[in-house]
Amino acid sequence: MSEWQGRTVLITGATSGIGQAFAKRLAMAGAELILTARSIERLTATALELRQEFDPHLPIHLYPTDLARADGPVQLVETIHQAGHRIDLLINNAGFGIAGTFATQDPQRQLEMLQLNVISPVALTRLLLPGMIERRSGAIIQVASMAAFQGVPWLSLYAGSKALLMNFTEGLAVECRQSGVRVLALCPGPTQSSFHATAGATPRGAERGMMSAFEVVDCALDQLAHGRSLAIPGTSNRLTLLLERVVPRSLVTRLAARLYRPDSKHG
Ligand SMILES: NC(=O)c1ccc[n+]([C@@H]2O[C@H](COP(=O)([O-])OP(=O)(O)OC[C@H]3O[C@@H](n4cnc5c(N)ncnc54)[C@H](OP(=O)(O)O)[C@@H]3O)[C@@H](O)[C@H]2O)c1
Repeated sequence: MSEWQGRTVLITGATSGIGQAFAKRLAMAGAELILTARSIERLTATALELRQEFDPHLPIHLYPTDLARADGPVQLVETIHQAGHRIDLLINNAGFGIAGTFATQDPQRQLEMLQLNVISPVALTRLLLPGMIERRSGAIIQVASMAAFQGVPWLSLYAGSKALLMNFTEGLAVECRQSGVRVLALCPGPTQSSFHATAGATPRGAERGMMSAFEVVDCALDQLAHGRSLAIPGTSNRLTLLLERVVPRSLVTRLAARLYRPDSKHG
């Protein structure tokens, strides 16, 4: 039996890609699902798909919320608590990237990205972690990225946002070690989802094979079950990270520049 059977899981960004794969795996494990994203239509479609695939009586609750708004996390948690739910597993997954030149990107969109990728996960963690610590039970997965490990030119602010989330999470995991609460940073490399269309670019070379969202999620749930605080899905991503530890940092950033450098400046 899965450890998540009958337990309540909150997944942000549950209507697509990695978040939807988390919803499917945890539905299969018998969890009660609290799903959020902005679009109620896509949330409803996701719930329908899950019920058709697993169980017509699957307990699923839908709370559409814009987590790129400053008041999103508090409103979401208030609604969840008013409905009488207690969260056992929080998966801070919603996020997006903006490819291109930092100095010419829409500043409002940049702030929304920081809110969604960093501030909201931190706020949701702050709101839900004390209850978990009090119960000496629970877990939090923060979906960071391989982009967190180095500067990524032409995806600079996104990479910075994920670096903050990952470093915060690794520190928090140690703080929580004796508390009965597990905390995991998940750092996927390029993964099949809507992410690249939203960001406006696909990293060079990724066409040769991206991981599936299910492979990423299976790695995360496995690493969490083993009490790890960092999950890097895929052997090539783990090898890349090992290489980065021995190569000078400036060279790593220059190599990373090849991934998103606009065509006109390439080669
Ligand atoms: N795919 C990759 O290559 C990759 C690699 C490393 C890390 N990641 C990270 O993985 C996470 C999931 O991304 P994905 O690849 O699954 O992307 P995706 O397919 O684009 O899914 C993004 C999800 O976030 C929701 N979302 C977007 N804006 C939101 C907002 N303002 N408020 C609440 N929800 C919002 C979307 O639903 P609505 O549009 O309905 O709100 C959707 O459910 C992100 O944090 C991303 O940075 C992805």
